[in-house]
Amino acid sequence: MTSRVRLTGITKRFGPVLANDDVDLDLLSGEVHAVVGENGAGKSTLMSVLYGSVHPDAGQIAANGVPVRFTSPGDAIAAGIGMVHQHFQLFESFSVTDNVIYGAEPSRRGVIDRASARDRVAALIEEYGSTLDPSAAVRTLPMGLRQQVEILKALYRHADVLILDEPTAVLTPAETGLLFTSLRRLAERGVAIVLVTHKLDEVMQVSDRVTVLRQGRVVETVPTADTTPAALAHAMTGRDIETAVNDAPASPGAAVLTVTDLRIPAEGTRAAIACDHLRVRAGEIVGIAGVAGNGQAEFVQAVVGLRPASGSVTINDVDVSRADVRRRRRAGMAYVPEDRAAVGSARALSISDNLAVGRFRGWLKPSALRRHAADLMERNDVRGAGPEARMSSLSGGNAQKVVLARELSQRAPLLVAENPTQGVDVGAIEYIHRELLAYRAAGNGVLLVSNELSELIALADRVHVLVGGRFVASFERAQLSEGRLGEAMTNAGAGAGTAALTPPEGD
Ligand SMILES: Nc1ncnc2c1ncn2[C@@H]1O[C@H](COP(=O)(O)OP(=O)(O)OP(=O)(O)O)[C@@H](O)[C@H]1O
Ligand SMILES: [Mg+2]
Repeated sequence: MTSRVRLTGITKRFGPVLANDDVDLDLLSGEVHAVVGENGAGKSTLMSVLYGSVHPDAGQIAANGVPVRFTSPGDAIAAGIGMVHQHFQLFESFSVTDNVIYGAEPSRRGVIDRASARDRVAALIEEYGSTLDPSAAVRTLPMGLRQQVEILKALYRHADVLILDEPTAVLTPAETGLLFTSLRRLAERGVAIVLVTHKLDEVMQVSDRVTVLRQGRVVETVPTADTTPAALAHAMTGRDIETAVNDAPASPGAAVLTVTDLRIPAEGTRAAIACDHLRVRAGEIVGIAGVAGNGQAEFVQAVVGLRPASGSVTINDVDVSRADVRRRRRAGMAYVPEDRAAVGSARALSISDNLAVGRFRGWLKPSALRRHAADLMERNDVRGAGPEARMSSLSGGNAQKVVLARELSQRAPLLVAENPTQGVDVGAIEYIHRELLAYRAAGNGVLLVSNELSELIALADRVHVLVGGRFVASFERAQLSEGRLGEAMTNAGAGAGTAALTPPEGD
């Protein structure tokens, strides 16, 4: 395999933060190259340098052995480099075809040549092995298919280098499987693929080589076959990572959350959501499992007061059925939302201000605020420029840690956590799991919604499975296994993606 793009000596500073420090990365045609590292290690920065959206302070880029300079993503695209953004950049109301060709429409005598565009997109879809309907509006598509549109956009522009920054964070297990099959196919045809991920089993499954970054520097680049998840975790963090497991017997107390006869009407293509009864007691972790898109998000919104629903919700013996989020919080609820950028934090404010929200009433000395923030950052290993830095300057995983630190520090009797370890590194997962177990041990209750079965199996005292808006099965801790949960999630009549939109028959 030959070098397709080579980065040499890339260095990038953001103020006091050295995000990339003399980084070398060689991408070969036909390889899937995984890039791993702790939150803030510099992965996304390096990808932005490769894609021309961040200008390095030092270092060179060579494409096919020829030195190049990227002043913008346009230059990178012209050099055959495509990027699949984690937050998709698609027009919801446009069709698949129109999204794919947007900005690169073929024209004949100055007029957009729709027929030839349609043909090329259809051919690409087939070549990619996709089931996409080229005329479908993007807003009707599940995440996995939207991501395919992003990938097709790059391929349509003749990309033979594809950058994917945490592409599976938003995918169901089935969608992830499909993505990896497609990536291997593209690699076989000579495309160079860079895959940034925190999931080491994905690295093992799909990549040929892996580069480990630590605090901006390359620790190693090795053939995947020559390493193990444990060895990678060690290279990333400099220590051994042990997984935290819920092995203390439960001693549940009074109910901290009771949901009864909750109903959310169907909306658009989403099925109605129904929960006859769900209870979380003090001193236990109750999990909700299900393929994303089966109603977990809406159910949690209804529980925390962000979405109207009929039925009743009681937090800590207070009837909050008609209460807004603030009153539910006052009743004793903390909440770690999935969308921490939009719901969980104020990106333009400082980390210190974000950590203080909901915590203090009245006026506080700035120095006390800063101390509180510095203390929480230190204890939660939030890596960034300091308490006064803007929330938006933090890497994805570090932003997640800030929201979690704030919510855990409330010591509320009930914590509602939605995918709390999404996008955080292996060390942070271990830490967050220990914190959740400590929360339970301290006599608080946790409602844990997670796309990661392994997380539920490690932590939950009981797991309810949500499929097509209905709770179809429940398992006690002793019964939990990936096999059982997986079966309940798929056998209820709904599979991944669109099938999940139809409610299952019976339960
Ligand atoms: N625009 C920016 N302004 C200031 N600091 C930044 C900016 N972008 C990144 N940084 C800092 O650079 C470092 C590397 O960030 P980067 O986003 O590359 O990390 P990452 O490895 O992708 O982390 P994650 O796994 O959390 O996504 C972090 O300390 C981050 O706070
Ligand atoms: Mg990143």
